[in-house]
Amino acid sequence: MKFFIDTANLDQIREAQALGILDGVTTNPSLMAKEGITGEENIKNHYKAICEIVEGDVSAEVISTDFEGMVREGEALAALHPQIVVKLPMIADGVKACKYFSDKGIKTNVTLVFSAGQALLAAKAGATYVSPFIGRLDDISTDGLNLIAEIRQIYDNYMFDTEILAASVRHTMHVIDCAKIGADVMTGPLSAIQGLLKHPLTDIGLEKFLADYKKGN
Ligand code: E4P
Repeated sequence: MKFFIDTANLDQIREAQALGILDGVTTNPSLMAKEGITGEENIKNHYKAICEIVEGDVSAEVISTDFEGMVREGEALAALHPQIVVKLPMIADGVKACKYFSDKGIKTNVTLVFSAGQALLAAKAGATYVSPFIGRLDDISTDGLNLIAEIRQIYDNYMFDTEILAASVRHTMHVIDCAKIGADVMTGPLSAIQGLLKHPLTDIGLEKFLADYKKGN
């Protein structure tokens, strides 16, 4: 399972990268705004800065909602750095743009996916990644993890290459459950990744080992 971090915060990206387990980064316009990154040039420079920290794929989202605009923006984003993945919304023009980019060998991430039907379309359009938002489904009392399971089954039935990128992951149990179901990738906050580290018995055990070592020396 690949681990992506879902943030535009450079310190958090560095911290996850330093752990040695990071495979990539996802961003979106809200995450950029949260870091105070505004204006086309600043946003582009920020993507380049992220690419310099991590080795893997970095999703950069288009703002346009029409095919021509998405193609123009996506081509400019892809030209920024070889690690850039063009992130496109799950709307009709987004599907068309996804097909356009996949035909050109440019990686894509189809975002804002909330149903198995949408995920099927993204795969048909040749998406590199499909991003079902599990946390936002949970927020409206719908089983986000069940959507991951449905997509897994559909993609396995037809051997689609599109990778399931479980997005809107909110906590550590989401990560574990997505791994059990077989999501290819998860993207979440640093806290969800760090939560995997923790177990009280590890801390108690380590404390005892160190105390016993001191007794014998
Ligand atoms: C996916 O790529 C999105 O950036 C993200 O996972 C959305 O998560 P949220 O629902 O926590 O905003």
